[in-house]
Amino acid sequence: MTARIMDQAARLLADPQAYTDEQGLHRALTHLRSHAPVSWVDVEGYRPFWAITKHADIMDIERRNDLFTNDPRPILVADELDDKLRADREAGIGLSTLIHMDDPHHRDMRKIGADWFRPKAMRALKARCDELAKMYVDQMIERGPELDFAQEIAVNYPLYVILSLLGLPETDFPRMLKLTQELFGGDDTEFQRDITPDAMLAVLLDFFNYFAALTASRRANPTEDLASAIANATIDGQPLSDMDTASYYVIVASAGHDTTSAGIAGGLLELLRNPEELARLQQDPGLMGTAVEEMIRCTVPVKEFMRTAQADTEVRGVPIAKGESVLLSYLSGNRDEEVFADPFRFDISRDPNRHLSFGYGVHFCLGAALARMEINSFFSELIPRIETIELAGDPERVATTFVGGIKHLPIRYSLR
Ligand code: HEM
Repeated sequence: MTARIMDQAARLLADPQAYTDEQGLHRALTHLRSHAPVSWVDVEGYRPFWAITKHADIMDIERRNDLFTNDPRPILVADELDDKLRADREAGIGLSTLIHMDDPHHRDMRKIGADWFRPKAMRALKARCDELAKMYVDQMIERGPELDFAQEIAVNYPLYVILSLLGLPETDFPRMLKLTQELFGGDDTEFQRDITPDAMLAVLLDFFNYFAALTASRRANPTEDLASAIANATIDGQPLSDMDTASYYVIVASAGHDTTSAGIAGGLLELLRNPEELARLQQDPGLMGTAVEEMIRCTVPVKEFMRTAQADTEVRGVPIAKGESVLLSYLSGNRDEEVFADPFRFDISRDPNRHLSFGYGVHFCLGAALARMEINSFFSELIPRIETIELAGDPERVATTFVGGIKHLPIRYSLR
């Protein structure tokens, strides 16, 4: 067996609380990139893994998707829950989404939803996005001059967009909001129902039951929405299993929601912390495209994904044994000084911007175009209407190793 060196800084990657202290975590990641870019992490409660912190290594691993697979460990989950989720998946009673799959099944499943996220479909959704953006900026005026932007605006707007795409009724939106927060805020006590694996599974079951009813209704009465496309999809002439169908809805509803809201809340925080960049954007709306990209780079709404080696291999000269997992730290890759000039600077005209916030390779975020459009619509509506805007308290980050960002962003403002 090869010697495995564990840099103590890498322990933080498995500590949800560490993600609430952005600067502390970035100090640790900066250290890892230069001293231990492939570091072994063995901490209580988690199966050990390799922490990958360099941009080039993350891309290289994602490119080699036959060697480094998503199954059986696509994300970092505490052992106890991981065992249970995996056993359920193997028994055919657990959710199995795109992120749990590898090609060729992954490719077939991804095709089912892909058309709904292509530019043509995005153009059709743009008017709805703009309308919702206006509705939420108007709400800011009604609720002003102070509010918690993260909880009152940023979490709701993307949920409305994604549930509109799916074709779900507005009356169900509050339930979906709670479910996605519980699912992704799993480590944050503010959003937890309970901390046991059973409680987590109860959240999944809620999702499952809701979507099973939706499938039945869309099969009986097909409509022109993504939910119908999923419910009525076939692979090799066969309809999807109930589990595959429910899993598809879950990945779309959950991946399309908390991620984008983290990008919007975090994006606004970046503008508030960098008033000269906000002023530039106000003066030159033509910078919106690169500004949105920079918000997504800096906020890194998805902190990591994992892969598992299917054969003995090596990364940056460090041997990785068959069966061992690697954690791809997008948070670190996006600040890699070898790729980004002045990586900690928020620069709304950064171009090129080869960030890894949407991942890379065959699992590259299916909803990237939608996320970009949503964030663009929102800030295109908000920015020209700002008279004054400032922080009205300390922002707070969610405790999670996976998806999220700013959970409370108190602001004071005046809009026209
Ligand atoms: C700023 C917002 C978003 C970020 C940062 C983000 C990030 C990511 C990342 C990092 C991955 C995994 C990529 C990889 O493994 O290489 C992913 C996958 C995925 N995302 Fe997003 N996402 C966002 C918004 C959305 C939206 C709006 C949707 C809409 C439904 C969406 C749907 C998906 C799906 C379905 C997958 C799985 C793709 C696959 O495994 O083939 N995401 N996303």
